[in-house]
This record gives sequence, C-alpha cells and structure tokens, in this order.
Amino acid sequence: MPVPPSEPLASAILDLAAFPPSFAWGTATAAYQIEGAVAEDGRAPSIWDTFSHVPGAVDNGDNGDTACDHYHRWPEDISLMKELGTDAYRMSVAWPRIVPGGDGPVNAAGLDFYDRLVDGLLDAGITPSVTLYHWDLPQALQDRVQDSHGGWTERATAEHLAAYASVVAERLGDRVTQWATLNEPLCSGWIGHLEGRMAPGFTDLTAAVRASYHLLLGHGLATQAIRAVAPGAQVGLVTNHSTVAAASDRPEDLAAAVRMDGHTNRWWLDPVYGRGFPADMRELYGVELPEQPGDLDVMAAPLDWHGLNYYFPVTVADDPHGPIPRAREVHLPDVPRTGMDWQIDAGGLEALLLRLTEDYGVRKLYVTENGSAFPDATGLDGSVHDPDRTRYLEQHLAACTNAVRKGVPLAGYYAWSLLDNFEWAYGYDKRFGLVHVDYTTQKRTVKTSGRRYAEIINAHRQTVTDR
Ligand code: FCB
Repeated sequence: MPVPPSEPLASAILDLAAFPPSFAWGTATAAYQIEGAVAEDGRAPSIWDTFSHVPGAVDNGDNGDTACDHYHRWPEDISLMKELGTDAYRMSVAWPRIVPGGDGPVNAAGLDFYDRLVDGLLDAGITPSVTLYHWDLPQALQDRVQDSHGGWTERATAEHLAAYASVVAERLGDRVTQWATLNEPLCSGWIGHLEGRMAPGFTDLTAAVRASYHLLLGHGLATQAIRAVAPGAQVGLVTNHSTVAAASDRPEDLAAAVRMDGHTNRWWLDPVYGRGFPADMRELYGVELPEQPGDLDVMAAPLDWHGLNYYFPVTVADDPHGPIPRAREVHLPDVPRTGMDWQIDAGGLEALLLRLTEDYGVRKLYVTENGSAFPDATGLDGSVHDPDRTRYLEQHLAACTNAVRKGVPLAGYYAWSLLDNFEWAYGYDKRFGLVHVDYTTQKRTVKTSGRRYAEIINAHRQTVTDR
C-alpha cells in the first residue's frame, strides 16, 4: 500500500529545531533478540537460551536460535540503518560469545565478530553505542550455585561482569567511545527473579533483592573496568522507568503509588545518584542487603550519561495482600494502547526526562529505547503501512522536543527497534521494528514508520543547515 499523501510532513508537526545540531539519531537492538547463531564460533548458552526452551515460558514456543540471523546478515542491516539516515546504533555484546564460561577463557572468535561489526558501522558513518549486558548471562554463571540461585544472586557475578567488560573495552575501546554497562536492571532483577516472566524465571523476593543489589554493584565495577582500559570512554547506564499515578485520591492509593514509584524508579536511580537504597523500600522488602563497605560508592560513580528507556505509564491502586510492592496496576478503560496492551502516553516520557534532569541532576541524557508493537499487515505488494507506530514515534519525539525546550540535556534518541525481533517472553508475534522481518525468508522491508523516521532525521538536518 502506498503511503497516503495526506499525512502531514514531520517538519510541519515537530519542533525539530529544539534539538542540538549534534543530536544522535539512532535505532536500538539487543544481541539475543536479533543475532541467532547461538551455537556458532564458540558461543555458549545464556540464561535466555535456557529459559526460551522451557515449555510454556515463551509464547508460541519461540526462541532466539535464529532470530533475525543478524550474525550473518549484519552488512545488510547496516545498509538499512543508512537507508533510514541514522547516525547512531545502540547494540549489545553477547557475554556468552566473549567469555562463554562467564569467567575464565576469552573466545577470540566472539571478539572478532564485534570487531568486524564495529568497523562496518564506522565505515558507514554510524556511531556505535555498546551495551555490555542486555540480559544474556552465561548459563554457566547461573549454574554456579554457592548461595541460593546462582547468577545475579551471587556477588561474584558482579565481578565477572567487570572482567568481561574490561575484555570488550580493551578490544573495541580504540573505536567505541559510548558504553553502557547494563540494560534495564529492573527487568533482570524484578521480572527475572520476582515475577518469573523472564530469565532466569524465579519468583523469590530475597533472590530478587540480592540480584538487584549485585546488578547495580556490577554496573559500578564495570564502569571502573571500562575506564581503566579505555580512557576516552563515555560510560552510562540504561534504565527503564514509568510515571506512576494513583487510581484515586484515597490515601491508600496515593501510598501505593509511592511504593510503585519506589519499586520502579527510585530503587534503581537513588543508589546510582548517591542516595543509597530508599529506606521505605528496604523496609517494605524486608530483605537484608548483601552490603560490603564501599559498595555504595562504587555504584554511585559519576556517569558520563544516562539512558532512559520509556514505553508506558502505570496507574495503581492499593493492594495490601497482593505481591510486592502491594500496588495493583489498574487497567484504565478508553485510553490508547499498543499491541502490547501498554498505555500510550508521550507525556510520561517528557515527565521522566525532566525528573532525571531536575531531581537526579543528570547532565547528559539519551532516550536509549522507545517504540511500539502493533500487529502489522503486509500489503499485497509487500509493503508494510504502520500508521499507529508512526504516530507513536511522532508523539514521543514531540515529547522530547518539549523536554529539550524546558532544559533537558537530551543528546539523542534511539528508536526501538531497527528490526522486528525476538520480543523475549512474547516471542516473534510482537513486532517493534521500523523494518519488517519475514522470519521465513529473512527478508527485510522498511515500514512506513521507518520512512517517516528517515524524513524526520532529514528535516532535523535541514534545520541545522538553515541555522
Ligand atoms: C525493553 C527491552 C528491549 C525490548 C523492549 C520492547 O524492556 O530492553 O529489549 O524488548 O523492551
């Protein structure tokens, strides 16, 4: 289906001149979601390989064995980034390709792969932003149980992350300057260890709190490790957040919103910005932290930038007997939603960008992920027209321009995602790509939203030329 000519031009609806000339326009992906080739060139299984093969864990029994076959098709994928006009790419490195056993011997073939990929990006004029941990913990570390559950419940895992970070930064640090330690520790900690909907699939509050602590410690140790071997490195952390509203003015609901905000936002930000773990949440969890002297300083090392992943807001009501944080999500009727059933509210993105700037004092920010899944229909001519995703993109970019006008030091935006890919427990049914992937043929097709993104990027460049 051709793009209806009536849709307004991006430059007419977006205040793109708000963005600085150097604004980074990117797309984002993660290793396990796109690479495939899970048993090639010395890669060992990660906790996601294990989890996705547990019957019932992932919709339709999907797994990342092949995914988008990016491991073999990366040159084509770089061409797609060029076609979109992007100049930045957020990718992750698969720990089990680099240090298959979690610690110990380094796999040269794994490093070689990312070496080629980084060179390919730079040749195409695209700046890589490399995330070291996007959830694919080597299974070997999960299996090394000393205490209770292995993996992130063990302090040693934080140290192994730093050692692995140092190996990668040593090899790529002459060309890569943008580094993120972790992606969304909330998901690893809470969804992986408390809710059980992601790898490693536990439902244990003590394990979850310990994992959250070791993730943030690992972030701090990895930050030090990267800086030690790559002096020019710009190191950041990528966290996901939601604005939290109370379902009513009842004091119980207002208190539930404070708890949910603590669980979703403050628990992950306060320690990183030097405030320690929030006392109200420590009391609510009632789990002793595995704290050692100096840990909090390690977690709070000043960062060069912060990455915000934003998808949806939440509204909660008090739920005194429900699971931690004893706040039940209320499904608001009659609000726009994506195919994930996530509420669409671009104002939440603006609010969170302002909060990070004003409340936490962040001095350089990126939107490291933002995007939407909708059930796309492929036209008879093979084109994919996705007006809902296009609108979501425009609304959220407008929220970014508002935030910048209000003083937020936003340096770039990475759309999630370059490609349709393995959407974790939802498998391949949920498509977030600006580029459609036919998983039978691996054919890539730029969607209308991708073309609109290209047009927006161009329009911004035009504002720069006109200045
Ligand atoms: C985020 C993840 C990313 C992707 C999007 C939709 O939580 O970081 O990998 O799955 O959600």
